[in-house]
Amino acid sequence: MRIYKATDYKDMSRIAANIIASQVVLKPDCVLGLATGSTPIGTYENLVAKYESGDLDFSAVRTVNLDEYKSLPRENDQSYYYFMHDHLFDHVNVKPENTYLPDGTKEDAAKECEKYEELIASLGGQDLQLLGLGHNGHIGFNEPAEDFAKGTHCVDLQESTIEANKRFFASADDVPKQAYTMGIGTIMQAKKILIVVSGEDKAETVAKAFFGPITPNVPASVLQLHPDVILVADEAALSKIPQ
Ligand code: F6R
Repeated sequence: MRIYKATDYKDMSRIAANIIASQVVLKPDCVLGLATGSTPIGTYENLVAKYESGDLDFSAVRTVNLDEYKSLPRENDQSYYYFMHDHLFDHVNVKPENTYLPDGTKEDAAKECEKYEELIASLGGQDLQLLGLGHNGHIGFNEPAEDFAKGTHCVDLQESTIEANKRFFASADDVPKQAYTMGIGTIMQAKKILIVVSGEDKAETVAKAFFGPITPNVPASVLQLHPDVILVADEAALSKIPQ
C-alpha cells in the first residue's frame, strides 16, 4: 500500500483527483468505480475543474458506483444517483449511458444485485475503484460482519451508519434501512484501489484498518491483501498510525 499524506482536506482532494486524472489520461476508456459520501466531494470538484480547463476528457470513460439506497427514487436528492449527477456527471462530458449505479428502485434484490455484478464483469471490472472509509471501517455499505461478503448484495444498514447519514435527511427515520452495495469481492477485483480519508474522527479507524489485523469486523482491513492500494489521507486522519 502506498500512503500519500495530505496536509488537509483540500490537499487530499487535489492529490486524489490527480491520481484519477492520471488513470483517465493513461486509459481514456477506463472503468472508474466511484463512491459517494462527503469525503470525495472535493475530489469530484477538482476533476470538474480539470475537465473545464480542457485537461481531462471523460467521453469514453465508464463508471460504476459502489452502492445505492434501496427504495429511494433516483430523483430524490439523497439518492446516490442524484449525488453523482449533482457532483460529477452533469458537469463533465461522461456519457450518461456509460454511468451505472445499482438501481435501488428495483425491489427484487437478488435479481438487481446479480445484474449489477454481471454488468461490472461485462465492462471488464474496475480499472480504479475510489473508496471512502466509514467510521466503523465499512467500505461501500459492507458493514462489520462475521464474513467478508463477496458479490453485490442487499444490506441492512447498521444503526451507526443510519446515525452518520441522518445529517442528510430530515430525521433518522427517513434514512433508508437497506442498500445495494458491491461486495468486498467486487471491490477487491479492481485493478487499483484509491481510498480517501479526512479528519481526526477517522484516525482510529485508519489505524485499525491498515495496521491492525485483517478481519471482517473492520471490512476495510481486507484492503491490506490487495496488491495496488493507494491511501490518500490528511494529517488528522493519519494521526494514529504507527510511526
Ligand atoms: C459511499 C460509501 C460509503 C462512504 C463512507 C464514508 O458510496 O460507500 O462507504 O464512503 O460511509 O462516508 P463519508 O465520506 O461521508 O465519511
